[in-house]
Amino acid sequence: MKKTKKILITGSNGLLGQKIVYNLKQRKDVDLYATSIGENRLLDKLGYTYRSLDITDQNKVSHILSEINPDVIINTAAMTNVDACEHNKEKCWKINVDAVKYLVEASSKYNTHFIHLSTDFVFDGKAGPYSETDEPNPLHYYAESKLASEKIVSENSSNWAIIRTIIIYGITDNMSRSNLVLWSKGEIEKGNTIKVVNDQFRSPTLAEDLAEGCISVADNSAQGIYHLSGPEINSILELIYKVADFYALDKSKIIPVTSASLNQPAKRPLRTGFVIDKAKKELGFKPRSFDEGIKFLDKQMNN
Ligand SMILES: NC(=O)c1ccc[n+]([C@@H]2O[C@H](COP(=O)([O-])OP(=O)(O)OC[C@H]3O[C@@H](n4cnc5c(N)ncnc54)[C@H](OP(=O)(O)O)[C@@H]3O)[C@@H](O)[C@H]2O)c1
Repeated sequence: MKKTKKILITGSNGLLGQKIVYNLKQRKDVDLYATSIGENRLLDKLGYTYRSLDITDQNKVSHILSEINPDVIINTAAMTNVDACEHNKEKCWKINVDAVKYLVEASSKYNTHFIHLSTDFVFDGKAGPYSETDEPNPLHYYAESKLASEKIVSENSSNWAIIRTIIIYGITDNMSRSNLVLWSKGEIEKGNTIKVVNDQFRSPTLAEDLAEGCISVADNSAQGIYHLSGPEINSILELIYKVADFYALDKSKIIPVTSASLNQPAKRPLRTGFVIDKAKKELGFKPRSFDEGIKFLDKQMNN
């Protein structure tokens, strides 16, 4: 019988965190610890241990890690609202950078495999799709904080992986945030018009596929940077048209706009998208297309 691996997830209340917990809690060879700030918001509380953990609390991080001594940490916790990071830089740095330092320091003591989540936003969007060896050039504060966290991980840990991903979409328990599919469907069904950018290109990633990818990284004790995203690159406008086609929504409610016209606090990179060959080859990563992803979400909503 395989040795049981202790895996600790941070940010388990979040979109990706929830999917990893729901996937791993079924595994007999994994002793699973879910942690997040505040109470456990997952509906199913069986098959894992939940501990409240604010990763910005260095003493608590150090205490919990010495107590549990996990073989693997998957750090999904982050301040993920890009515009909020622009407005509240101090808070953003505390969660996205300082806390990563605490986690890396504590996990280095026990040679824990530290798996950290990062973003396509570390790139400037001038030359997507990007591979793992391309040079980052962040355009906004959130991206700067994530790139700084990557450096902390790669320079201070000897047992690490960084997983960069792009627009995660999925359905969670006690949803605190929307996603591309639900937002566009919801608004158009209410009769509202929506402004959608036609000059930003992305590879959206189904949360379940990303969770599988993160777990493969853990199972294979993979080291280094991995790009994990959906397989195709589309403009956000094309993606929303796909949702409209699937649900037979009125496309005249979708107003194409340029990024510049939105005047968002954080300037978005125009063309990201990833080359995912490394993850396919080394991890057997097989992400679903956006069309398959919409069908998958639709089934979940109707269950
Ligand atoms: N979502 C995307 O489209 C996207 C794209 C590229 C990269 N990423 C990266 O992927 C990772 C996962 O993203 P996600 O979409 O799953 O994020 P998410 O849904 O925002 O989840 C992040 C979780 O972290 C928790 N958290 C915040 N501050 C914390 C703290 N101090 N201590 C402990 N937990 C804390 C949040 O708690 P509350 O729920 O209580 O706020 C939330 O549950 C992040 O590293 C993100 O930067 C995400």
